[in-house]
Amino acid sequence: MKFNSQYRRGKWDKLGGEKESVRYEQIDAYLHRFKPASIMDLGCGDGVLNRRMTYDGFDSFLGVDYAEVSVNMAKKQGYPKATFETHDLLDFTPKDNYDAIILNEAFYYIHDSERTRVLNNILSGLNDNGILIVSIFREGATCWEYFKENPKLKEEAFDVVHSKLDDTYWKLGAYSKT
Ligand SMILES: C[S@@+](CC[C@H](N)C(=O)[O-])C[C@H]1O[C@@H](n2cnc3c(N)ncnc32)[C@H](O)[C@@H]1O
Repeated sequence: MKFNSQYRRGKWDKLGGEKESVRYEQIDAYLHRFKPASIMDLGCGDGVLNRRMTYDGFDSFLGVDYAEVSVNMAKKQGYPKATFETHDLLDFTPKDNYDAIILNEAFYYIHDSERTRVLNNILSGLNDNGILIVSIFREGATCWEYFKENPKLKEEAFDVVHSKLDDTYWKLGAYSKT
């Protein structure tokens, strides 16, 4: 699987650099605003969010990724209150419910034909008063409609953040359940 060899080669080390810091900062700001006690990060990679977030008001954090190389890298870091599991989002149904579910640069890897089904599975694990946090690189064509036009979701926040180093930008949204 390509992500395993990419993590082995260090292709994703760049996510820890300054260029992408703004999107993690925005997610961190949402976490401070919504104060979740339980967090699930889907497509968590090697745990860059854990490394970068300053929000500490949670009791549990589950990171999920289908690249077991990245999951093993995350496990080795010993991030506080965090566990990591290997699952493919295509056939993943959360076993527990969470106050915050994060899709940080992961949703666009799901094929268009699978997005509604996968998102519904994900939302089955969101508490009624929970928050879904989404980050998508640049315009996110054919992605945002799954959140913005979803009758099951209400947009609580939407932000565009610009890289401090170049003209890259990301859009981020936070959604509650209707
Ligand atoms: C661009 S990286 C983002 C990593 C991390 N969320 C971050 O922003 O630091 C995308 C991640 O999504 C994961 N991913 C892609 N498709 C996936 C799937 N179907 N199931 C689980 N993880 C997936 C990849 O393995 C990779 O770690």
